[in-house]
Amino acid sequence: MKISQQLEAKLNAQINAELYSGYLYLSMATWAEANGLGGTANWLRKQAAEEQTHAMKIFDFVFRRAGRVTLTAIEAPRTEWKDLEELFAQVYEHEQKVTGMIYDLVRVARAEEDFATVEMLLWFVNEQVEEEEDSLAIYEKVKVAKNHTCLLVKLDSQLGER
Ligand code: FEO
Repeated sequence: MKISQQLEAKLNAQINAELYSGYLYLSMATWAEANGLGGTANWLRKQAAEEQTHAMKIFDFVFRRAGRVTLTAIEAPRTEWKDLEELFAQVYEHEQKVTGMIYDLVRVARAEEDFATVEMLLWFVNEQVEEEEDSLAIYEKVKVAKNHTCLLVKLDSQLGER
């Protein structure tokens, strides 16, 4: 069954959103590099690469369902953050926003009784649990470490092990 035009458009928007997520995390990585946080930059680079794989999962699915992928402009991400706490607050907030987008897609796919799309999206539903869990855990650690240089150095080194 060919994918509906409505779902095709929404999945295309999600491809853009996943690519934007990668672009945002890559921009955060440049900020981290510039601020001597090489471990954090490593974590963010890997996160950016993961977002690319998310985009490609949907990209491939649209083609498999005889749909058309249309790539559109990716919004420019911000380039500056006050500190690591603000940066990870944004990562966590962004992941919650992405979860909301995935839930919205599931609602539409369910309403259309497009069970193949629902099934594909359930992978993302589970993935978002991990994405939120990981970003919240780091955000909480940053809040504890922010006024203790040795804790921040240790956290940065842990993020470098990803
Ligand atoms: Fe593709 Fe971080 O969600």
